[in-house]
Amino acid sequence: MNIAVLASGNGTNFEAVVRSAEKGKLRNAKIKILISDKEESFVQKRAKKHNIKSVFVDPKGFSSRTLFDKEVVRILRKEKIRLVVLAGFMRILSPYFVKAFKNRILNIHPALLPSFKGESAIKKAYKYGVKVTGVTVHFVDNDVDHGPIIFQEALKIKEGESPESLEKRIHRLEHKLYPEAIKLFIQGRLKVRGRKVAII
Ligand code: GAR
Repeated sequence: MNIAVLASGNGTNFEAVVRSAEKGKLRNAKIKILISDKEESFVQKRAKKHNIKSVFVDPKGFSSRTLFDKEVVRILRKEKIRLVVLAGFMRILSPYFVKAFKNRILNIHPALLPSFKGESAIKKAYKYGVKVTGVTVHFVDNDVDHGPIIFQEALKIKEGESPESLEKRIHRLEHKLYPEAIKLFIQGRLKVRGRKVAII
Protein backbone atom coordinates (compact mmCIF):
# COMPACT_ATOMS: atom_id res chain seq x y z
CA MET A 1 0.00 0.00 0.00
CA ASN A 2 1.44 3.36 -1.03
CA ILE A 3 1.33 6.05 1.64
CA ALA A 4 1.75 9.81 1.27
CA VAL A 5 2.59 12.10 4.15
CA LEU A 6 1.53 15.75 4.02
CA ALA A 7 3.40 18.04 6.39
CA SER A 8 4.27 21.71 6.81
CA GLY A 9 6.86 21.97 9.51
CA ASN A 10 9.41 20.18 11.60
CA GLY A 11 8.30 16.67 10.68
CA THR A 12 8.95 14.68 13.84
CA ASN A 13 5.77 12.68 13.19
CA PHE A 14 6.86 12.08 9.61
CA GLU A 15 10.18 10.83 10.97
CA ALA A 16 8.43 8.52 13.46
CA VAL A 17 6.30 6.99 10.71
CA VAL A 18 9.26 6.58 8.36
CA ARG A 19 11.39 4.97 11.06
CA SER A 20 8.63 2.59 11.91
CA ALA A 21 8.41 1.59 8.21
CA GLU A 22 12.19 1.22 8.05
CA LYS A 23 12.09 -1.10 11.05
CA GLY A 24 9.64 -3.30 9.16
CA LYS A 25 6.71 -2.43 11.42
CA LEU A 26 4.49 -1.25 8.56
CA ARG A 27 4.43 -4.39 6.49
CA ASN A 28 3.11 -4.19 2.94
CA ALA A 29 3.37 -0.42 2.95
CA LYS A 30 5.68 2.09 1.36
CA ILE A 31 6.06 5.75 2.28
CA LYS A 32 6.05 6.87 -1.32
CA ILE A 33 6.03 10.64 -1.12
CA LEU A 34 6.12 13.67 1.16
CA ILE A 35 4.12 16.68 0.07
CA SER A 36 4.76 20.01 1.77
CA ASP A 37 3.09 23.38 1.36
CA LYS A 38 6.03 25.22 2.93
CA GLU A 39 9.17 25.89 0.97
CA GLU A 40 12.30 24.60 2.68
CA SER A 41 10.45 23.14 5.63
CA PHE A 42 12.59 20.93 7.83
CA VAL A 43 10.41 17.94 7.03
CA GLN A 44 11.69 18.07 3.45
CA LYS A 45 15.26 17.65 4.71
CA ARG A 46 14.11 14.61 6.67
CA ALA A 47 12.57 13.13 3.52
CA LYS A 48 15.80 13.59 1.58
CA LYS A 49 17.77 11.94 4.36
CA HIS A 50 15.49 8.90 4.15
CA ASN A 51 15.45 8.87 0.32
CA ILE A 52 11.77 9.63 0.13
CA LYS A 53 10.46 11.63 -2.78
CA SER A 54 9.64 15.14 -1.62
CA VAL A 55 7.40 17.59 -3.46
CA PHE A 56 6.70 21.20 -2.56
CA VAL A 57 3.36 22.52 -3.79
CA ASP A 58 3.29 26.29 -3.51
CA PRO A 59 -0.10 27.56 -2.31
CA LYS A 60 0.72 30.93 -3.90
CA GLY A 61 0.36 29.29 -7.30
CA PHE A 62 -3.37 28.64 -6.80
CA SER A 63 -6.28 31.05 -6.48
CA SER A 64 -8.33 28.80 -4.18
CA ARG A 65 -8.02 26.00 -1.68
CA THR A 66 -9.81 23.61 -4.03
CA LEU A 67 -7.42 24.34 -6.91
CA PHE A 68 -4.45 23.71 -4.63
CA ASP A 69 -6.04 20.47 -3.46
CA LYS A 70 -6.76 19.39 -7.05
CA GLU A 71 -3.05 19.59 -7.77
CA VAL A 72 -2.23 17.60 -4.62
CA VAL A 73 -4.86 14.96 -5.47
CA ARG A 74 -3.46 14.73 -9.00
CA ILE A 75 -0.01 13.98 -7.57
CA LEU A 76 -1.43 11.46 -5.10
CA ARG A 77 -3.28 9.63 -7.89
CA LYS A 78 -0.20 9.62 -10.08
CA GLU A 79 1.73 8.00 -7.22
CA LYS A 80 -1.09 5.48 -6.67
CA ILE A 81 -1.52 6.52 -3.05
CA ARG A 82 -4.03 4.58 -0.94
CA LEU A 83 -3.48 6.31 2.41
CA VAL A 84 -2.87 9.99 3.13
CA VAL A 85 -1.25 10.80 6.46
CA LEU A 86 -1.45 14.40 7.69
CA ALA A 87 1.47 15.12 10.00
CA GLY A 88 1.37 18.74 11.03
CA PHE A 89 -0.10 19.81 7.68
CA MET A 90 -1.39 23.23 8.60
CA ARG A 91 -4.03 23.58 5.89
CA ILE A 92 -7.71 22.77 5.94
CA LEU A 93 -8.58 20.21 3.27
CA SER A 94 -11.34 21.09 0.81
CA PRO A 95 -14.41 18.85 0.40
CA TYR A 96 -12.92 17.90 -2.99
CA PHE A 97 -9.86 16.37 -1.33
CA VAL A 98 -11.84 14.68 1.46
CA LYS A 99 -14.19 13.10 -1.09
CA ALA A 100 -11.34 11.94 -3.33
CA PHE A 101 -9.80 10.03 -0.39
CA LYS A 102 -12.88 9.26 1.68
CA ASN A 103 -11.93 7.44 4.90
CA ARG A 104 -8.36 7.26 3.61
CA ILE A 105 -6.97 10.37 5.29
CA LEU A 106 -5.60 10.28 8.83
CA ASN A 107 -4.74 13.19 11.09
CA ILE A 108 -3.01 13.52 14.43
CA HIS A 109 -3.92 16.24 16.87
CA PRO A 110 -2.02 17.15 20.04
CA ALA A 111 -5.05 17.37 22.35
CA LEU A 112 -8.07 15.34 23.33
CA LEU A 113 -10.61 16.30 20.69
CA PRO A 114 -13.08 17.95 20.63
CA SER A 115 -11.08 20.13 23.05
CA PHE A 116 -8.54 22.61 21.71
CA LYS A 117 -9.11 22.24 17.99
CA GLY A 118 -6.95 24.09 15.48
CA GLU A 119 -3.44 25.40 15.84
CA SER A 120 -1.26 25.56 18.97
CA ALA A 121 -3.40 23.02 20.82
CA ILE A 122 -0.69 22.09 23.34
CA LYS A 123 -0.23 25.73 24.38
CA LYS A 124 -3.99 26.32 24.47
CA ALA A 125 -4.54 23.34 26.76
CA TYR A 126 -1.64 24.36 28.99
CA LYS A 127 -2.86 27.95 29.29
CA TYR A 128 -6.42 26.84 29.97
CA GLY A 129 -5.14 24.98 32.99
CA VAL A 130 -6.53 21.55 32.17
CA LYS A 131 -5.18 18.76 34.37
CA VAL A 132 -5.43 16.16 31.62
CA THR A 133 -4.69 16.51 27.93
CA GLY A 134 -3.43 14.08 25.31
CA VAL A 135 -3.33 13.00 21.70
CA THR A 136 -6.03 12.10 19.18
CA VAL A 137 -5.63 10.16 15.92
CA HIS A 138 -8.66 10.40 13.67
CA PHE A 139 -10.01 10.09 10.14
CA VAL A 140 -10.45 13.39 8.33
CA ASP A 141 -13.88 14.63 7.33
CA ASN A 142 -15.11 18.01 6.08
CA ASP A 143 -14.83 19.75 9.46
CA VAL A 144 -11.60 20.76 11.14
CA ASP A 145 -10.20 18.28 13.69
CA HIS A 146 -13.54 16.49 13.72
CA GLY A 147 -13.60 13.12 11.95
CA PRO A 148 -14.14 9.66 13.50
CA ILE A 149 -11.64 8.93 16.27
CA ILE A 150 -9.24 5.99 16.05
CA PHE A 151 -7.14 6.51 19.18
CA GLN A 152 -7.08 8.85 22.11
CA GLU A 153 -4.58 8.68 24.88
CA ALA A 154 -4.50 10.97 27.88
CA LEU A 155 -1.59 12.58 29.70
CA LYS A 156 -1.83 14.11 33.15
CA ILE A 157 -0.18 17.50 33.37
CA LYS A 158 2.25 17.36 36.28
CA GLU A 159 2.19 19.89 39.08
CA GLY A 160 4.41 22.81 38.02
CA GLU A 161 5.24 21.23 34.65
CA SER A 162 6.67 23.60 32.03
CA PRO A 163 5.01 23.97 28.62
CA GLU A 164 8.21 22.64 27.04
CA SER A 165 8.08 19.47 29.10
CA LEU A 166 4.42 18.92 28.25
CA GLU A 167 5.14 19.46 24.57
CA LYS A 168 7.92 16.89 24.69
CA ARG A 169 5.66 14.32 26.33
CA ILE A 170 2.84 14.98 23.85
CA HIS A 171 5.20 14.50 20.92
CA ARG A 172 6.58 11.28 22.38
CA LEU A 173 3.02 9.98 22.67
CA GLU A 174 2.24 11.07 19.09
CA HIS A 175 5.27 9.22 17.80
CA LYS A 176 4.02 6.04 19.45
CA LEU A 177 0.33 6.32 18.47
CA TYR A 178 0.57 7.41 14.84
CA PRO A 179 2.54 4.42 13.52
CA GLU A 180 0.18 2.12 15.46
CA ALA A 181 -2.89 3.66 13.83
CA ILE A 182 -1.28 3.52 10.39
CA LYS A 183 -0.44 -0.13 10.91
CA LEU A 184 -4.07 -0.93 11.76
CA PHE A 185 -5.20 0.91 8.64
CA ILE A 186 -2.76 -1.02 6.44
CA GLN A 187 -3.99 -4.27 7.96
CA GLY A 188 -7.58 -3.30 7.10
CA ARG A 189 -8.54 -3.40 10.76
CA LEU A 190 -10.21 0.04 10.99
CA LYS A 191 -13.90 0.10 10.16
CA VAL A 192 -15.67 3.45 10.12
CA ARG A 193 -19.31 3.30 11.16
CA GLY A 194 -20.74 6.80 11.41
CA ARG A 195 -18.68 8.63 14.00
CA LYS A 196 -17.30 5.43 15.47
CA VAL A 197 -14.22 3.52 14.41
CA ALA A 198 -14.22 -0.18 15.23
CA ILE A 199 -10.86 -1.90 15.52
CA ILE A 200 -11.46 -5.41 14.28
C1 GAR B 1 2.08 17.77 15.84
O1 GAR B 1 2.06 17.99 17.23
C2 GAR B 1 0.67 17.55 15.32
O2 GAR B 1 -0.15 16.90 16.23
C3 GAR B 1 0.21 18.96 15.09
O3 GAR B 1 1.32 19.59 14.52
C4 GAR B 1 2.51 19.04 15.09
C5 GAR B 1 3.50 18.76 14.00
O4 GAR B 1 4.72 18.37 14.55
N1 GAR B 1 -0.96 19.01 14.26
C6 GAR B 1 -1.99 19.82 14.49
O5 GAR B 1 -2.01 20.66 15.37
C7 GAR B 1 -3.16 19.65 13.54
N2 GAR B 1 -4.30 20.35 14.00
P1 GAR B 1 5.81 17.66 13.63
O6 GAR B 1 5.98 18.54 12.40
O7 GAR B 1 7.04 17.64 14.47
O8 GAR B 1 5.30 16.30 13.28
